[in-house]
Amino acid sequence: MSKSNSATFSLINDATGDKYALPVLDGTVGPSVIDVRRLYAETGHFTYDPGYTSTGSCESALTYIDGDEGVLLHRGYRIEDLAEKSSFLEVAYLLLNGELPNGQERDSFVDTITHHTMLHEQLINFYRGFRRDAHPMAIMCGVVGALSAFYHDSTDINDPHARMVASYRLVAKMPTIAAMAYKYSLGQPFNYPQNELSYAENFLYMLFAVPAEKYVMNPVLARAMDRLLILHADHEQNASTSTVRLAGSSGANPFACIAAGIASLWGPAHGGANEAVLNMLNEVGHKDRIGEYVKKAKDKDDPFRLMGFGHRVYKNYDPRAKVMMQSCHEVLEDLGIDDPLLDLAMEFEKLAREDEYFIERNLYPNVDFYSGIILKAMGFPSDMFTVLFAVARTVGWIAQWQEMIEDPTQKIGRPRQLYTGPDQRPYVPVEKRG
Ligand code: ACO
Repeated sequence: MSKSNSATFSLINDATGDKYALPVLDGTVGPSVIDVRRLYAETGHFTYDPGYTSTGSCESALTYIDGDEGVLLHRGYRIEDLAEKSSFLEVAYLLLNGELPNGQERDSFVDTITHHTMLHEQLINFYRGFRRDAHPMAIMCGVVGALSAFYHDSTDINDPHARMVASYRLVAKMPTIAAMAYKYSLGQPFNYPQNELSYAENFLYMLFAVPAEKYVMNPVLARAMDRLLILHADHEQNASTSTVRLAGSSGANPFACIAAGIASLWGPAHGGANEAVLNMLNEVGHKDRIGEYVKKAKDKDDPFRLMGFGHRVYKNYDPRAKVMMQSCHEVLEDLGIDDPLLDLAMEFEKLAREDEYFIERNLYPNVDFYSGIILKAMGFPSDMFTVLFAVARTVGWIAQWQEMIEDPTQKIGRPRQLYTGPDQRPYVPVEKRG
């Protein structure tokens, strides 16, 4: 819970001399916030903050980012520790319940998730309605939204049990939905989940196994997948999470809200960035051309941006990018792949980090800079990259959604605007319009 701080901020209307005291609220760590909830009622003015660069939209106890120091905490635990010592389902439990599970709680949670992984058989018909060349994110938006039509017993947002069941279903079924989207694009048969496998192993199995031969699990890839899921599990009030909260604030059911989050994640400025990084590295092709692209990124008249660089919150190295780079080396080594794109990426990072433009603006590699290379090595086509992100982020979205529903101060999200269109004017009949 936030606490009122005895300090206030004064706001003075220079025209009238009216003075307003704005309360300040403290969280546990991080900057305090100026509480402007009564601003319009008291002053007749709104705040103006497109892109929400200075706006806290909610109170949350899930995830904390110190962008200046490059720190990411989930319920107080450092992402590096979780990635090294925990499993994705333990992190999912942590996000949903606030604490890491003890052994018995973990086994029971794993069992529950494992027994929700199958999809209603009729949902297969949805896949058949898509073109084979449909982008898998288009399929994800459609199929996840359609879950609302299949699981009516978990759409009552006012019932805590129904909310928890919806959360379990979403975490459990996302890998199945994603793997089916992939198999559909290949024209291969869908694989049903295998309960003896771990979450990450089962996902790899559903993605890559074919009925004609035995699937041999590679533990290095399974660990890399689990770590990738952990690294993407939650990230505070980013665009897709805010979208989920905003959709949920109207009382929409959780499946519809997660479908909204998937849509928001799709864009290249957000979850689509790792696909864009790989496209960019392929386009650059050779170390000799890096300088040319760095120059383009710096040119104000050129819309090109260095994909995988920069972050709204991190003004230091994204701690997830460090773990991802390490994972990338492990996977490539295990698979015996010598990918020139990794060398190119590392050279890119070196050159950009020495460049005044990037230094001044604190532009460091973000999590997406290396994730595309690792996913490519694991055998994923680039249009599946954002899908994996969506699978991982679902637990963050749904935990944030639950937190919002349980927040007694929650209201429908309804930003205001600075209107710049025409003032009221008389209607002109068509024959009199010029
Ligand atoms: N390449 C070149 N210049 C950049 C880049 C970049 N990747 N990112 C930011 N800048 C520059 C901007 O041009 C701006 O310069 P200016 O002050 O001279 O105008 C300055 O850095 C600040 O940039 P903003 O756009 O104001 O920063 P914002 O917080 O709005 O953007 C974003 C963050 C969208 C992530 C941006 O850095 C970007 O487009 N990066 C590339 C896409 C990407 O990697 N996205 C993944 C984000 S992580 C994730 O979603 C998991």
